[in-house]
Amino acid sequence: MGIKKHILVIPGDGIGPEVTTWGKAVLEKIGQEYGHEFTFDEGVMGHVAIEATGTSLPDDTLAKAKASDAILFGAVGHIKYDNDPSAKVRPEQGLLKIRKELGLYANLRPIMLFDELLNASSLKPEILKGTDILFFRELTGDVYFGEKNRTANFASDLMNYNRYEVERIARKAYEAARARTKRLCSVDKANVLETSRLWREVIQGIAPEYPDVETEHMFIDNAAMQLVKNPKKFDVVVTANLFGDILTDEASQIAGSMGMLASASVGDGTGFFEPIHGSAHDIAGQNKANPLASILSVALMYEIAFGLKEEAGRITSAVDKTLKAGYRTGDIADANIDKAKILGTAAMGQKVLEYL
Ligand code: IPM
Ligand code: MG
Repeated sequence: MGIKKHILVIPGDGIGPEVTTWGKAVLEKIGQEYGHEFTFDEGVMGHVAIEATGTSLPDDTLAKAKASDAILFGAVGHIKYDNDPSAKVRPEQGLLKIRKELGLYANLRPIMLFDELLNASSLKPEILKGTDILFFRELTGDVYFGEKNRTANFASDLMNYNRYEVERIARKAYEAARARTKRLCSVDKANVLETSRLWREVIQGIAPEYPDVETEHMFIDNAAMQLVKNPKKFDVVVTANLFGDILTDEASQIAGSMGMLASASVGDGTGFFEPIHGSAHDIAGQNKANPLASILSVALMYEIAFGLKEEAGRITSAVDKTLKAGYRTGDIADANIDKAKILGTAAMGQKVLEYL
């Protein structure tokens, strides 16, 4: 039996629209094959929304998001604001607000390593081979959402966590660890931060509920180092919002490129599926962006939002076949790749559709 779902697409800024086109195409193609029916709506967010409406998350987009079954998101950001610290309205505000409004407190970021990309990383292939990490980044708390203050010569961002916020993401991470190799690493800075001491206390309190899972606690500085020294030692990693933001960009280099990493933001409301990369204005509109993170985000949508593992597996395997056949976008092409097989966004998206 096919499913019927209503999807909101938020292409956003920079390379967002280019990559999202291919995520959506893959969603539809595999849907047709399995008899699923999708209806689509589109919403604006980020710089494009500021230009059109004065705010980065218009009420209309938020209302559409709440009314949809899943959201496919591209990217937000613009250099104009990056170089203007005094800007009061910023593209990123929309993304943070939608995460908060939808209660998307858990951001799942799988570090999936395709064998063909072992040489695309700046790390040694023998260090990388066999790495498979699933990050649980807390997404609606921490210094991202604490009170902000600013005077001419002083600034402060309040870092805070409630016990329940740590508990709910910890449980999600433990459940996932149970279904994998039963190892959970909680990353914090409990030697310095009070929020981290609460974090660690909560994890220690929950650990006995999962006696089959081995729990390890690691400081963020050490984790950042271990991740490049011996990434295989990690399986499920659970961490706070800011630490998770930073660690997963670092971890993307294990997978070869930011252009490969998909993510799923879940919690109370509609699931939100987003590549971890940003708007990449330097290559926007040039048909150079890697569409695979958006396509793999759609695989996560099938698996997590709709519980359809087979369809998800088909998408991942189409990406794998595309890479095995030697096709690459510029960001994942190592020196040994046949120049003729280095493709633009559209041709790469098309190849995945073919292998589907
Ligand atoms: C991410 C991004 C966002 C974040 C930005 C765009 C606000 O870097 O999703 O990782 O910091 O969460
Ligand atoms: Mg980030």
